[in-house]
Amino acid sequence: MSFTTRRYDFQDKAADYSSLAAELSGLLAGETDGIANAANTSALLFEVLPDVNWAGFYLLRDGELVVGPFQGRPACVRIAIGMGVCGAAAARRETLVVPDVERFPGHITCDAASRSEIVIPLIRQDALLGVLDIDSPKLNRFDEHDRRGLERLAAIFVAGSRL
Ligand code: SME
Repeated sequence: MSFTTRRYDFQDKAADYSSLAAELSGLLAGETDGIANAANTSALLFEVLPDVNWAGFYLLRDGELVVGPFQGRPACVRIAIGMGVCGAAAARRETLVVPDVERFPGHITCDAASRSEIVIPLIRQDALLGVLDIDSPKLNRFDEHDRRGLERLAAIFVAGSRL
């Protein structure tokens, strides 16, 4: 398989996230293995999103979050539900956009370069499957367009993957 990703400049975030959604659907088409799809999803996101130093998954295993496929520096392995940004997003079952990680009580530092973060819970039919976590070395990197765009990408991943 050869895969050539489009280039995105995210000047028009809504348009670029739409193209990226189509690209992710194509990338995952015909494969339902959750680890394989999580690996390719994190690789695509890390490749195309500007100003990102970590992109990947924490998957729910026996009631806690365990690191899954990702791109970036090695990360902490287990996060309890409710702990850190990932655990808080999982507990609340809602996307958390953190403009400044130093102002988020309980933020778990994996890469000291991270300044802002977005965590999207992965939910199928009321069941929590894990979270998608993206970190940036820039303060206030993620806005409403990113939230909507990344929630759409997470939904494509959930719909096409057995976890
Ligand atoms: N910062 C996260 C931990 C995971 S890493 O950023 C990869 C948190 O507070 O949950």
